[in-house]
Amino acid sequence: MINHIIDKIKSCLPDKYKQLDIHEPSFQRKDIDNVAKCIESTYVSTKGKYIDHFTEKLTKVTGSKNILLTNSGTSALFLSLKTINIDSCEVLMPSMTFVATANSVIDAGGIPNFIDSSSESLNACPISIEKYLKSIATYKNKLCLNKFTGRVIKALIVVHAYGEPANLTAIKRITKKYNIQVIEDGAGALGSHVNDKHIGLSSRFCILSFNGNKIVTTGMGGAILIKNKKDYESIKHLISTARVPHPWKVEHDKAGYNLRMANINAALGDGQLSRIRSILNNKKKLHSKYRNAFHDNKYCFLHEYNSSIKPNHWITNLYLKEKYKKYHQVLIEALHKENIMVRELWKPQHLNNMYRKMPKSTIVNANKHWKTGISLPSSYYK
Ligand SMILES: Cc1ncc(COP(=O)(O)O)c(C=O)c1O
Repeated sequence: MINHIIDKIKSCLPDKYKQLDIHEPSFQRKDIDNVAKCIESTYVSTKGKYIDHFTEKLTKVTGSKNILLTNSGTSALFLSLKTINIDSCEVLMPSMTFVATANSVIDAGGIPNFIDSSSESLNACPISIEKYLKSIATYKNKLCLNKFTGRVIKALIVVHAYGEPANLTAIKRITKKYNIQVIEDGAGALGSHVNDKHIGLSSRFCILSFNGNKIVTTGMGGAILIKNKKDYESIKHLISTARVPHPWKVEHDKAGYNLRMANINAALGDGQLSRIRSILNNKKKLHSKYRNAFHDNKYCFLHEYNSSIKPNHWITNLYLKEKYKKYHQVLIEALHKENIMVRELWKPQHLNNMYRKMPKSTIVNANKHWKTGISLPSSYYK
């Protein structure tokens, strides 16, 4: 069985590499030239033309009119949460997410509440959200409160896990009823669409990440897609150390942050963003190979996608069938011996020591996905 799965995975991958990691960046001459030109210009910090070029291209790719570039996806999340002001408030999120989602809630002064995934997807299950809210929510002055803790439930972070768009329509039906704001964590979902619209356009904030393992990288970096101009202006000021614009005075009117993306990082990402169509095509091809290789397989399967979504296939995850889940670690070890450096999925956050005591819904599916899933090498090989 192990050899059978390894052979199937290998059949989808190029054989010219010594080692295959989950997601590696790929650079072309243009990216290197851009970085060199940026250095020659001396504008390597938070001013410079690549910030504008990258923002303009991102506007074209996503359709968002208000975009701010940040130095990571985590700081983009933090800034969105700070703007909503979640201080001493509770924030719902799927337990199946990267740790940064929960960390940024803590950093912004909030308390995460973890929600289960759907049985057929890693994304938060709308039924689980509603069931959880029914069991804990009460109202005071139109605010939704957790009746057990007395704290306001202010927001829900919808994560598009590994690039797969979540069911936002069903989720927003619920959050509207409970007066809860929605932030989208699309860290890995650049280029993912629902009904031919890029993710992140209908919520107050949607964040993206350009870390080295994403489909477009600026080294480290992130962005916030912002729905309204007022939030845009306020965050723009906040991330620029709240400096009052003036040709020579150095004065600040708030305790701000220094969380902008640097020009040199934007220079690295700019060329890649021009190639995003071909990057997405290559990723789709690899995903289709995996899907065909494991079609009707005795031991493993891939989650099916809803026909209305077009994921970017950032990472393809493979799942062992329940009967074979005891081979999970053995399979991962065997693949590593072949230099195929697969990984477990994100450990569900409610199982991490620092988050064990946080409020949560009943969680069954996220545990199951974690115990059976592996992330496959998903780079856009040439
Ligand atoms: C779901 C999710 N949220 C947030 C982040 C954090 O992004 P960054 O690494 O750019 O800070 C990641 C990074 O992979 C992620 O996958």
